[in-house]
Amino acid sequence: MNVLLIGSGGREHALAWKLKQSPLLGKLYAVPGSDGLGQLAERPPLRWEDFDKVCAFCLEKKIDLVVIGPEAPLARGLTDFLTRRGVKVFGPSQKGAMLEASKQAAKEFMERNGLPTAAFTVLHSAGFAREKIKENKQYPVVVKADGLAAGKGVRICCSEAEALAAVEDFMEKRVFGAAGAKVVLEEFLPGVEASVMAFVDGETYLALPVSRDHKRLLDGNKGPNTGGMGAVCPVTLPAEDMAVIEREVLARFVAGVKKENLDFRGLIYAGIMLTAQGPKVLEFNVRFGDPETQAILPVIKSDLLPLLLACAGGKLAGRELELTGETCVSIVVASGGYPDAPESGKPIKGLAGPAVAAQVFHAGTAKKDDAYFTAGGRVLSVSACGKDLKAARQRAYAALERISFEGMQYRKDIGL
Ligand code: AMP
Ligand code: GLY
Repeated sequence: MNVLLIGSGGREHALAWKLKQSPLLGKLYAVPGSDGLGQLAERPPLRWEDFDKVCAFCLEKKIDLVVIGPEAPLARGLTDFLTRRGVKVFGPSQKGAMLEASKQAAKEFMERNGLPTAAFTVLHSAGFAREKIKENKQYPVVVKADGLAAGKGVRICCSEAEALAAVEDFMEKRVFGAAGAKVVLEEFLPGVEASVMAFVDGETYLALPVSRDHKRLLDGNKGPNTGGMGAVCPVTLPAEDMAVIEREVLARFVAGVKKENLDFRGLIYAGIMLTAQGPKVLEFNVRFGDPETQAILPVIKSDLLPLLLACAGGKLAGRELELTGETCVSIVVASGGYPDAPESGKPIKGLAGPAVAAQVFHAGTAKKDDAYFTAGGRVLSVSACGKDLKAARQRAYAALERISFEGMQYRKDIGL
């Protein structure tokens, strides 16, 4: 079976690594892919934005499945374009992708379908936003840009002044462009977070093991928010929380997308806050999490390819997921200056060292001759498995200590 993978991050490198283990795989292509992933997949000179060319390539190369990693192609309707022309895709339709691309769409979907989430108000203009913020007596409060802002459009505001500043940045200065045209004002939920992902075929779901991201830059959850500095999988949640997540989040999600004809065949990621009142949904992503995927896939024993195909083809019912029973820790290595102004072009040492029991997934790297250089904020994910968290952490950090580049940053407390 031939597969085309769309994307270029650490998540896509991990997907390619896992797909390569499938005995069903014929050829694997990646668009655009990355230099790190280039050892696993062929990289045709295509851009995913050229829908016509991508489609022609799929037909010519007899691609059996297109797997879309990031949110942007989903939100732009690549799935709809390809499926209309007979190409099978893992990844929801454009309407389904709105559940990530618009916070308003997500909140209203949850409200209509009875999923537990924080109370909210949609603010359509800066004037109305200021009025509502002045009425608000409860701090902190959360201000969210409606559209896609690469994980940066959420501010936890501890005072009226901070909330007003967020409105000014999002709605007037438009620091995230059109993504800030609307804003969602949301009740702050205290608690512990977990990432819940499930395969969805439009009719049913199959939950992946729960994982946890570490979003802040520095140890002890300090410093600025990032795209994610590391992840662990599996994370064991109390049985009663898991039961609520299955019944009120995942089952209601699937019932909702079915009722609303969203043609959702791919993966749903619910960011969950475990509050004193039970689990509540913070946000949806309509794709695999990054860096969670780099910690989830190494603990999945099942062949990934038939599962992705089953989602795309509406044939998920009765499928099961077999796990290795191990724990995986994945640590993100970021460039100096990340997240504000990441440096680039630093030679990375230690990648070709003696094999250790860890996987290195590339994100922001570039290959020149036979050497790798940094080329982005999040550079690598180092993932290792062990019989428990302690063993996995030891292996991951031992592997990471062989790698170095100028200015490199990583957290020392992933999984603690
Ligand atoms: P989101 O992009 O909506 O997941 O938000 C990014 C991060 O902001 C989440 O992972 C949480 O840490 C935090 N966050 C978002 N919404 C809330 C909320 N209602 N209460 C507390 N924290 C939140
Ligand atoms: N780990 C958060 C995300 O993938 O958006």
